[in-house]
Amino acid sequence: MKIAVISAKGGIGKSTLCAELACEFARRGVDVSIHDHDHKQKTISEWHSIGQRSTPKLGAEAVLELTDIQPSLDAKSLQNAVVTADIIIVPIGPSGPDLWATRDTLEVIKAAKKTRVLIVRNKVVTGTRMQKVLAQTEAPFPVAKTEIGYRQDFIVAMSTGKSAAEIDAESKAASEIRSLVDEIVSNFINVGVSVK
Ligand SMILES: Nc1ncnc2c1ncn2[C@@H]1O[C@H](COP(=O)(O)OP(=O)(O)OP(=O)(O)O)[C@@H](O)[C@H]1O
Ligand SMILES: [Mg+2]
Repeated sequence: MKIAVISAKGGIGKSTLCAELACEFARRGVDVSIHDHDHKQKTISEWHSIGQRSTPKLGAEAVLELTDIQPSLDAKSLQNAVVTADIIIVPIGPSGPDLWATRDTLEVIKAAKKTRVLIVRNKVVTGTRMQKVLAQTEAPFPVAKTEIGYRQDFIVAMSTGKSAAEIDAESKAASEIRSLVDEIVSNFINVGVSVK
């Protein structure tokens, strides 16, 4: 099964969500790998190397394979990832400009007639007026109930080759990722693998 984290918008949290989701699936005992298709920035490869990680695997075959792409609508990596993915996760940022910059990506996904798509609000600052505006914004695909907050744990984890849960399993960041994986599993995954 393939999950691609897709957006042509730069800096929206694709690599962060890709790493966090892969780590959480691995923690649940799933055989999981990440394919780093951002050949320019190589964020996932750097993260994997700094963390000297054995799981998730990098660029290998696995029961569950996640793909991280570079931020370009024209890049083959985005088009290929959309076509080949079973499940597509689209992070969106917490501002109007972030939303507008994601429209083209959503059009590509629609054109590919993908149905298992989940929009994930990332970098949300809870209790702000913008959070309320975003919560009311209509979207062409389902939006995850789980919002991913703007949290230091995600920044530190990404910078040190870890996941938020590996830094602090009790943190809000770790809890949000568990909740997001629960949603992905309950909405989309029925592959007979152990994804408790
Ligand atoms: N939920 C979050 N809370 C705090 N910081 C975050 C969060 N998500 C991502 N970031 C930070 O935002 C920056 C961009 O994140 P990331 O590299 O994951 O985005 P990206 O979409 O992969 O970027 P690019 O398009 O350049 O590949 C990084 O510094 C990352 O640590
Ligand atoms: Mg990236």
